[in-house]
Amino acid sequence: MCGGFETNAVHGGYAASEHAHAGVPPIYMSAAFDMESAARGDALSAGTEDGFSYSRVANPTVDVLERRLAALEGGRSAVAVASGMAAVSFALLCAAEGGGRIIAPKTLYGASVDAMASFFPQFGVHTDFVERINDLDEVEALIGPDTRAVFAESVANPSTEVTDVAGLAELAHRYGVPLIIDNTVPTPYLFRPIRWGADVVVHSTTKGISGHGNTLGGVVVDAGRFDWGSPRFPQFTRTEVVVSDDRAGVWHSFASRFGADAYIRRLRIKYVRTFGAVESPFNAYLQLLGLETLPVRIRQQTRSATAIARHLRTLPHVRDVRYAGLALADPEGAAGQDARQAELVRRSFPDGVGGVLSFELDGDRVRIARVLDSVRVFTYIPNIGDSRSLIVDPARITHREVPADFRAAAGVTDNLIRLSIGLEDVEDLIADLDQAIARAYDEQ
Ligand SMILES: Cc1ncc(COP(=O)(O)O)c(C=O)c1O
Repeated sequence: MCGGFETNAVHGGYAASEHAHAGVPPIYMSAAFDMESAARGDALSAGTEDGFSYSRVANPTVDVLERRLAALEGGRSAVAVASGMAAVSFALLCAAEGGGRIIAPKTLYGASVDAMASFFPQFGVHTDFVERINDLDEVEALIGPDTRAVFAESVANPSTEVTDVAGLAELAHRYGVPLIIDNTVPTPYLFRPIRWGADVVVHSTTKGISGHGNTLGGVVVDAGRFDWGSPRFPQFTRTEVVVSDDRAGVWHSFASRFGADAYIRRLRIKYVRTFGAVESPFNAYLQLLGLETLPVRIRQQTRSATAIARHLRTLPHVRDVRYAGLALADPEGAAGQDARQAELVRRSFPDGVGGVLSFELDGDRVRIARVLDSVRVFTYIPNIGDSRSLIVDPARITHREVPADFRAAAGVTDNLIRLSIGLEDVEDLIADLDQAIARAYDEQ
């Protein structure tokens, strides 16, 4: 893909000449496609010719989205799926299926924690959770013969603590283990994990990538650099009928057949095709539309989030403002962050960490409920990355299914409020928070 990030956000992955010269990528609402001739049908099914035959495997609208997201993340290829959780689940299981172990921090998104701590073990995939993912000694001590991936979020939600992707990648690669990064919170506009050494990137495209709170989606982007052909990953080196030509007696594994594309092909052919969590063409269309404005939205949201974080720090009753981007805003902004975290933000996130921030309030649950009930511009919605500003109490909502010690590690106390900053006037957002907090303390 040629051109800069903002050009690719509008044009990446799309050639109008291949789609009846339509200016905007069309929505191909077709379950299946005419294979035209017996010879072409045979070639499409054998995978010796690229093309579309059935939308559970690939669809032209979804294909444009996949190419655009791969370009924006600096990856080799991508597979779009029906939600962020489908992306997280498929990416991790594809690496660790058949008895593998994953290393991950306790601060992950709630549903990822629940999946990895209590559900994936039912499929024989276990997770070794670390207290601090940036403590490379703690991570290294857990790497063993069954470790198949290190998994982390580039920016944690709701703390916004940033991960040392370069350090983790170097460590994981020393042991022949891939690094998988959930890059949902910053979006590729602010951070591209592959550039810092990650092998696989996942997103909930429901968030900043769509940007309007109107669709669900997920994506797995593959850098195409990791060697899945090593003995650590038997699922990639054993022969499989689905990638072989058994009539001709030609047998392949995913590694021998696809080389640098082994991981993404396996994810599509085994996971998406089997479990069927396919992205719909209509949702892909909405995400393509959202991507066109990604840079301008994220710039404004990051600017507003910084202004709001600074303002909140001046308010009575506000105990602790968590926004890693403060390390960029002013020298004292890093108060409360350790020096290493502030240095990491400055080095890897020069344009900021995005529109999510959180803060604690004095008092009990009643005060929190009053703030939630008193906001007028913010909406009480459990989502992030919307053009509307959103507010939520993570302990009761997004992290409800997370065990107490995991909530504590993520800083999710009962007094925590999370904001996702949208595109409204920042003065209106600040005034709304001021009046809601004043009401909560009977000061208005
Ligand atoms: C960091 C992160 N990863 C994954 C997900 C799951 O995404 P989805 O809701 O699209 O399944 C979320 C959702 O909030 C998230 O915040």
